[in-house]
Amino acid sequence: MYKIPANTLFIGQNLVFVPQCHSTNTLLAELAKNQDLSEGTVVITSDQTAGRGQRGNTWEAEPGKNITLSLFLKPSFLLARDQFYLTVVVSLAIREFLMSALKTSIKIKWPNDILVNDKKISGILIENTIGGDKLQQSIVGIGLNVNQNNFSMDKPTSMNLISHQDYDLASILNSLLVKLESNYLQLREGKYDALKSEYLNHLYWMNEERLFKSKGQEFRGTITGVDEHGRLSVFHDKKLMSFDLKDISFIQ
Ligand code: BTN
Repeated sequence: MYKIPANTLFIGQNLVFVPQCHSTNTLLAELAKNQDLSEGTVVITSDQTAGRGQRGNTWEAEPGKNITLSLFLKPSFLLARDQFYLTVVVSLAIREFLMSALKTSIKIKWPNDILVNDKKISGILIENTIGGDKLQQSIVGIGLNVNQNNFSMDKPTSMNLISHQDYDLASILNSLLVKLESNYLQLREGKYDALKSEYLNHLYWMNEERLFKSKGQEFRGTITGVDEHGRLSVFHDKKLMSFDLKDISFIQ
C-alpha cells in the first residue's frame, strides 16, 4: 500500500510497513537495537494497538484511517542541549504539510501538538538517545488524524472532519516525508534561528494573555517564547518564568 518516496534523499527510503503493532516507536526502538538501521528508516502501521503519547498518555487511532509512524534519525550534529530543535523541525513539517492540504490556519501548541481550530489533529512523541554531549539517535513518532471522524477521548479533530474529504494515506505519507526531510536538512545546515522564529510565528497563544495552571495554582500570563532548553517562557507578575512540560497546563 505504501510506496518508497521517489522525491526524498533518505527519509522513507527504508520503509517498513507492518499491518499491526503495539507502538511504532517501540517497534522501531527494537529494530534499532538489533541492527544498524539507516537514517531515515520509517516504520508505519495501519493498526497501532497501544499507541503511546506524551506524559504517559495513550494515542488513539482507528485502524486503517490515520497515519501512525515512527522515523529514525541520527542527528549526531546536534548538541544534546539543542534537542528541542528536533521538536521544532517536526512540528513545522507537519504544520506545513497540513497548511498545503487544508488551506487553513494551523497552530503549534507548545511543545508539539498540532492544532486546527483549537483542536488537536496531530501529536508527536520524540524519544532521543544521547551519547556524550550529542544526540545519537532519535525516534520521532507521529500520529496524524486523517480519515477518522469519531473519537472516544478528548475532542480531537482530523483532516476529514475539517474538509469533509477522504484522503489517500499513501500520498499523505509521501508529502509528509518530503516536508520532514526538507526541514531536517535545514537543521543540519545550521539554520537554527530561522527555524525557531518560524516556530514562534505559529505558536498557539503566543503574546496573548491567557489562563494557565502550575502546581495546582491558576494564573494569568503571556507566552513570550521558548528558552534555550526548550522550556516555555511565560511572563507573569512582572517576571519571566520557564516551564517544563509536566509543570504547566493551558487552561483558557
Ligand atoms: C502526543 O501528542 O501525546 C504524542 C502522540 C504520538 C503518537 C504517535 S503514533 C506513532 C508513534 N507511536 C507511538 O506509540 N506514538 C507515536
